[in-house]
Amino acid sequence: MKNILITGGAGFIGSHVVRLFVNKYPEYNVVNLDKLTYAGNLENLKDIESKSNYKFVKGDIVDGDFIQQLFKDYSFDGVIHLAAESHVDRSITNPMEFIYTNIVGTVNLLNAAKSHWEGSFSEKKFYHISTDEVYGSLGDTGIFTEETSYDPHSPYSASKASSDHLVRSYHDTFGLPVVISNCSNNYGAFQFPEKLIPLFINNIKNKKPLPVYGKGVNIRDWLFVEDHAAAIDIIFHRGGKGETYNIGGNNEWKNIDLIKKMCDIMDRKLGRNPGTSEKLITYVKDRAGHDLRYAIDSSKLQKELGWMPSLEFEVGLEKTIDWYLENEEWMNNVTSGDYQKYYEEQYEKRENL
Ligand code: NAD
Ligand code: TYD
Repeated sequence: MKNILITGGAGFIGSHVVRLFVNKYPEYNVVNLDKLTYAGNLENLKDIESKSNYKFVKGDIVDGDFIQQLFKDYSFDGVIHLAAESHVDRSITNPMEFIYTNIVGTVNLLNAAKSHWEGSFSEKKFYHISTDEVYGSLGDTGIFTEETSYDPHSPYSASKASSDHLVRSYHDTFGLPVVISNCSNNYGAFQFPEKLIPLFINNIKNKKPLPVYGKGVNIRDWLFVEDHAAAIDIIFHRGGKGETYNIGGNNEWKNIDLIKKMCDIMDRKLGRNPGTSEKLITYVKDRAGHDLRYAIDSSKLQKELGWMPSLEFEVGLEKTIDWYLENEEWMNNVTSGDYQKYYEEQYEKRENL
């Protein structure tokens, strides 16, 4: 029997990881620790919430005493740390939450693992989930490898870079058994509609303007979230201690091309005339410090641990759009209340180009 702590399990990626572990490993006890910020939603886990190998604990990783007590109560064998503030635009308007959760919260977990695991490091693993955004921005060519130097540009990516450095320092200084992965942009079910794909699906459906930052020429490398969860499973069990693995779909899309693709698919699915939804595209003031291009080389993970993305992007995108169209109630619930205020501040006050 293994006791596993998954932090941020009520969020987008975390909920897929919790679901995978609870279903695939009935012999593990999975504890999901989440503060339930605006991005955390227990509805994401309704299908597994009554399983006997699953427990939800509401709590804040910034509270060091609470984290120490949690480690005492549960004697964790492994940690998969996903809890974070994760949205670049929010990090520009309110950086401090990112510093507290992403940096201080991560160090609280490292300290608890270090003190509770003393003497038994060889049987434990602390897995820190990070992003490709720590590597900065690429020009027209090039690709991020595990050796690329860190060069973050947003408060979000700088806070994640800082947490990665701290995780590595606990390995190098104290011998803590850590592993890190840096993944490209995820898409799929249960993603909060502040990120490009679910936001635009919701706006297309409701015939609202599609706010494209700048000229829409920025490029992202998209990966289906269940492929990320599968990579996390493999790395947690077989990743080398002290190692880093890049995870990505080898699937680069210029924002404007992706947006037009989504408009086409949704016109078809919603029975609208071709070209209808593209008319909603509105070019707006660019994001400050907007990284031009991300692209991930995941060959180390593929060669050493045998992971491969499972889905063609077009198939994953259709599946994702279907999910949001079929789960109207989920979308209505997460866009009620504070979401309207966020939307007004981010978009209704933003200049059009
Ligand atoms: P998310 O914003 O959907 O979820 C984050 C979760 O963390 C939420 O459930 C939230 O309630 C919880 N949380 C926030 N602050 C907390 C705190 N102080 N204490 C406890 N819980 C807290 O994020 P996501 O997109 O699922 O990302 C998960 C992880 O994966 C993050 O570490 C992110 O940096 C990383 N990542 C995300 C992507 C992506 O495309 N979304 C890509 C690569 C890496
Ligand atoms: P996002 O989903 O926020 O992910 P990240 O910034 O972490 O890559 O944004 C993906 C891309 O889409 C990014 O280049 C910014 C752009 N974007 C828009 O053009 N309009 C929007 O309303 C949003 C949310 C993003």
